[in-house]
Amino acid sequence: MRAIKKITCIGAGYVGGPTMSVVAQRCPEIEVTIVDMNTARIAAWNDSDLANLPVYEPGLDEVVAAARGRNLFFSTDVDKAIEEADMIFISVNTPTKTYGKGKGQAADLKFIELCARQIAAVATSDKIVVEKSTLPVRTAEALKSILDNTGSGVNFHILSNPEFLAEGTAVQDLQNPDRVLIGGEDAEAIQALVDIYAHWVPREKIITTNLWSSELSKLVANAFLAQRVSSINAISELCEVTGADVNEVSRAIGMDSRIGPKFLKASVGFGGSCFQKDILNLVYIARTYNLHAVADYWEQVILLNDHQKVRFAENIIKTLYNTVNGKKIAFLGWAFKKDTNDTRESAAIYVADHLLDEEAEVIVYDPKVSAEQVYKDLDYLGTRSPEANRRLVTVVEDPYEAVNDAHAIAVLTEWDEFKNYDWSKIKAGMKKPSFVFDGRKLLDRKQLEELGFVYYAIGE
Ligand code: NAD
Ligand code: UDX
Repeated sequence: MRAIKKITCIGAGYVGGPTMSVVAQRCPEIEVTIVDMNTARIAAWNDSDLANLPVYEPGLDEVVAAARGRNLFFSTDVDKAIEEADMIFISVNTPTKTYGKGKGQAADLKFIELCARQIAAVATSDKIVVEKSTLPVRTAEALKSILDNTGSGVNFHILSNPEFLAEGTAVQDLQNPDRVLIGGEDAEAIQALVDIYAHWVPREKIITTNLWSSELSKLVANAFLAQRVSSINAISELCEVTGADVNEVSRAIGMDSRIGPKFLKASVGFGGSCFQKDILNLVYIARTYNLHAVADYWEQVILLNDHQKVRFAENIIKTLYNTVNGKKIAFLGWAFKKDTNDTRESAAIYVADHLLDEEAEVIVYDPKVSAEQVYKDLDYLGTRSPEANRRLVTVVEDPYEAVNDAHAIAVLTEWDEFKNYDWSKIKAGMKKPSFVFDGRKLLDRKQLEELGFVYYAIGE
């Protein structure tokens, strides 16, 4: 197999952009081109002002600055990039289906299939095709069937190389991954990809498996991580009625080396583009094999997460004397976690939706999320008209403006800056009694209570 000189990645999103930027930074002798059909997104990746990159991730601007124009290119010319590449990563979105069979559960693979068909139509030389997107187990079979039936005589090798980065720490995770997983059938193709990662990842952290184990492991990793969050969130409700403190319980159980301390932080519920989508996908796959007990088991992780979001909103309503109609509730945070501008499946959206049903007035402040995005997220739910969303929700750029005259503050994202606000000033400007509902267990109860706030935190 010839040495890999040119790599193309189809999909310049939260995964394709950062992942391939790091590959380019670490492999200066390889030319990396990231393509996307979204011209605005590609223009933003090419923007000379690095503050305008379409994905916000700490440290990403430096990586892009080091490689862009040297061996890292962003383009909308998908055909050209396919034609020239030795290796093609497919990193397009695989959202939950919103129509037809498997609606609401199965992964929508139309974007993946379109990529495969485009590669099949354009390629005139042998290619290694790498699944970077998260896919249902056995998707490689479908890709292979499309690619092997072109009649062009071109050889395609398919690898699975799921991405484990978490948003907000993407660059750190990519530079120093716990492991890199490569699944495949062809030893030379696997070696070609191992050699790329070996530029910076210790060899013992690069593990190789068969295709199906690799595809399935990605879904399972996300299911296990989400399961831990739902497990501790289930316990948070029990803590609230028994006088136990969920942070103390997390610490106590996390020191058992078999359990471990990570991912035991109770919250208003997990969000993000992956956990829910990937578990639903796992549930769907289990059901298609008639494994109903398996499907029911994993589905419970989602049901508990939905319950946690509803429970948080209902506690606000109940505490505010059973009505929030016309009351101003300030949201600190809209992103699904700190250090990202991503709002996909953020708990904030669902908590807001619940409060808006009760005609609350919601004022949102998030350091990285635009007003346009907030309205887009609410409109997407289709619960009420876009006009009603704009009437009830205001998005501001100053946190003190958000909380001024508010009946209550709800902390939905754990942005560090919230801890350092002048809480005394905030208290002075709020309605009395002044309620804080901390969905992230971020703020200091003692400090807030001393200032006279009525402070409620998950799991306490
Ligand atoms: P994204 O929506 O941010 O980016 C996908 C991009 O692909 C979009 O810009 C879209 O325009 C482009 N695209 C779709 N079809 C195309 C086509 N035919 N030709 C050219 N461009 C096309 O999605 P993402 O968050 O980067 O996720 C991509 C995949 O990675 C998903 O399968 C996801 O499950 C997986 N993943 C995501 C994360 C994460 O944290 N976001 C982590 C690990 C894995
Ligand atoms: C996740 C996986 O961690 C990552 O490996 C995969 O590649 C993509 O999906 P991501 O969704 O970006 O990453 O963020 P993650 O840190 O996993 O957080 C997901 C959600 O769980 C967030 O809403 C976060 O706030 C929440 N969470 C996480 C908790 O509520 N408590 C925790 O202890 C950990």
